Amino acid sequence: MKLGVAYYPEQWEPSRWATDARLMAEAGLGIVRIGEFAWSVVEPEPGRYCWDWLDEAIATLHAAGLGVIVGTPTAAPPAWLAADNPAVLPVRADGHLAQFGGRRHYCPSSPVYRTACAAIVGAEAQHLAGRPGLIGWQVDNEFGNHESARCFCDRCRAAFHSWLQARYGTLDALNAAWGTRFWSQHYTAWTQIPVPTGAVVALHSPSLRLDYCRFASDLTVDFCRAQTGILRDYTPGLPITTNIFPGDEQLDLHALAGAVDFLSWDNYPHGFSGPAEVAFNHDLLRGTGPRYWVMEQQAGMINWTAYNPPVPPGQVRLWTLQGLLHGAEAVVYFRWRAGLTGSEQYHSGLLKHSAAPDRGYGEVQALAHELPAWPDLGSRPPAPVALLWSSDDLWAVETDRHHADFQYRALAVAIYSSLWEHGIAVDICPRHLPAADLAAYPLVIAPAAVIDDPAWTQRLEGYVSHGGTLLLNLRAGVRAAANTSQASPPPGSLAALCGVTVGEILSLPPERTVGVQTAGDLLRCPLWAETLDPTDSATAVLWRYAEPPGTPGYYSGQAALTRRPHGSGAAYYLGTYPTPALLAALWTGPLAAVLPSALPAHPHLERFTRYVAGTTYHIILNHSEYPQATPLTGRWCDMIAGQATEGTVIVPALGSMVLRREPGDHA
Ligand code: GAL
Ligand code: ZN
Repeated sequence: MKLGVAYYPEQWEPSRWATDARLMAEAGLGIVRIGEFAWSVVEPEPGRYCWDWLDEAIATLHAAGLGVIVGTPTAAPPAWLAADNPAVLPVRADGHLAQFGGRRHYCPSSPVYRTACAAIVGAEAQHLAGRPGLIGWQVDNEFGNHESARCFCDRCRAAFHSWLQARYGTLDALNAAWGTRFWSQHYTAWTQIPVPTGAVVALHSPSLRLDYCRFASDLTVDFCRAQTGILRDYTPGLPITTNIFPGDEQLDLHALAGAVDFLSWDNYPHGFSGPAEVAFNHDLLRGTGPRYWVMEQQAGMINWTAYNPPVPPGQVRLWTLQGLLHGAEAVVYFRWRAGLTGSEQYHSGLLKHSAAPDRGYGEVQALAHELPAWPDLGSRPPAPVALLWSSDDLWAVETDRHHADFQYRALAVAIYSSLWEHGIAVDICPRHLPAADLAAYPLVIAPAAVIDDPAWTQRLEGYVSHGGTLLLNLRAGVRAAANTSQASPPPGSLAALCGVTVGEILSLPPERTVGVQTAGDLLRCPLWAETLDPTDSATAVLWRYAEPPGTPGYYSGQAALTRRPHGSGAAYYLGTYPTPALLAALWTGPLAAVLPSALPAHPHLERFTRYVAGTTYHIILNHSEYPQATPLTGRWCDMIAGQATEGTVIVPALGSMVLRREPGDHA
C-alpha cells in the first residue's frame, strides 16, 4: 500500500462514490485521505453531527479495498463558529482581525477554538473508532501555511508573556537578555511587551521577534499535541500524522514530529526551485523520524504559482519514484478529481472536471503495475554527509537578513544541491544531533549556525577530535540565544575549534561578486562573504580572496577557506556564499578524502545506490525533458533493457534506469 489520493466525497454526489472508489482501486491506489476540510458538513450546526455521509463514504472506499486516512477538520472552522465567536479568528501580521473565508482562519490559543476542536475531534474519533477501513489520522492540514502559525491577537500576546516568563523567569533577566536599553524598550511589567505586528513605527527588536517565532511554533506544536492526545485516547494504535508544506518555515519540524507518530509533507515540485530542492525536502522530512509520507503529491498542473506550467508525460511517475527512493513510505496524490467549485478550480487531479481520466491517472496506474517489478530498494547505505538544519537559525536570519537575498533555506539548499549533483547522499539532521549520531558521519555541514551555543560547540569539538570533519559556512555563532550580538568576534564559541575569527563581512549587492582563488580556478562568488583571520598557528589557509590586478579589492589576500586540524579530525570554515563551481571545487579538492563517493557532477541526474541481498544497485532518475548521458564505472546489468552495459549510458527524458552490478565486477 504505497500510493494513495486525496478525495473530497462531500464535493460530489454520493451516487458517484462507488465509481470513484472502483477507479481508484483500478489505478492501483491503496490509500485515500478524506475529511480534512469537512467540518461544516460533519457539524452543520453547533453540536449537530451528520455522520451518515462520512460512514457511507468510508464504507464505499473500504469495500473497494482502500484504506482511509481521515483528516481532523480543524484547518477550516465553519462559518457558524466564527460568526458566534469572532474571537476564534486570528489577528494577522498587519494587526487586522482576519475575516471568515479562505481557510486556516483560527487563533491557535483561543480557548473557544480549542474547546470546539476538542469536541469535533473527540466526536469524530469516538464515532470512527474501530471502523473497518480506517487506517490512520491526519491532524489539521498544513500548520503554518498561509503564515497561519503566528497570530497577533491579545490572547496570543498574553500567552507570549507566559512563555517569556517561563523562559526568562524575571523581567530583569529578559531586559538584560534582550538589551532593552536600545531605543528605550525597557519593560517594567510583562504586559507591556508587544507582539511583533507590522503596526509599529520602525523595527521591532530582533530578540522579541525571534522569541515570538519560537513561541508561535511551540503554540502550534501544543495545539497539535492536544489533538493527538484525543485521537490516541479513542483509537490507540492507529497512526497519527500531520502534513506540512516545507516552504512555510513557521514551525520547528523536529518539535512538530514529536507531537505525532510521523510527519508528512505536501510535495508540489512546481513550488520549488527544481528537483534538487524537492530531494532536499524529502531528506528534511526523512530526518524528522524513522518514517515519513508524502501526503499530497502534485499530479498535474497546479493553480498557485505565478505561471502554473504544464506537467509533461512521465513527470508524475518520476516525482513518485523520487519520493519512494528517498524513503517516503507512501505517496498520496492531490487530488482525485479537479474541483468544480471553490478556489482551486484550475488545479488538476487524477481525473478531469468531467471525470475523464487526466494524464496523471494513466501514469499512476502504469506505475502501480510497474512498482512490484522494482527490486526492494529499502536498504539505503549510510550517508557520508549530515547537513544540519535549525528553525532557530532560520528565524534568526529572517529577523535580520542584512542582505535582502540571504535566506537560510536557500543557503542550505545550495549546499545540498551541489552534493545532489555529485551523487552524494545526504542526511538532513536537526542541528542539535546527539554526539553518538554525529559520529556516524564523515562530514558534518552547518550552514549559517547563527545562534551560538557553547554546549553544541563542545559536542562538535568531541566529534572533530575523534576524526570527524566539520564544515561551517557563514554567520556562524554571531548571535547569542536571545538574538543579540556578542562582544567576542564571530564565530563566537566556535572560534577556537575553527582557529579563525571573522574579520569583515562583505554584503554584496546583486551587481557585485568577490573573487576566490582555489587550488585551480579563480571563482566568483555572489551575495555574502566573510574574511577570515587565523588565530591559531595550526590553521591552514586553503583559499584566499583575490581580485585581478588593476581592479578594486581591498580584501584580496584575506583567507576565504580555512582548515584547522583538531585531534584526528579537522574543522573548516568557508567564508563565501557557495556557488556550484565553488562547492564542486570543495568536494573534489579539500574534502575529497572524506567524500570518496563523489561522482562527476550532473545537473539533471539523481543517483541512488542500494544494496539488496548482497547485490549493488545503481538507480538513475533523469529530471530533464531531454535524454541525458552519464559515464559508468565497471560493468552493470540494465534491468529494464535486460542487458549488460558499461561505458556511457543514456537515461531517457524524465525516465529512470535501474542498474545491477554484474556478479564478479567490483569496480
Ligand atoms: C496544499 C493544501 C491542499 C491544496 C493544495 C493545492 O497546500 O494542503 O489542501 O490546497 O495545496 O496545491
Ligand atoms: Zn491569537
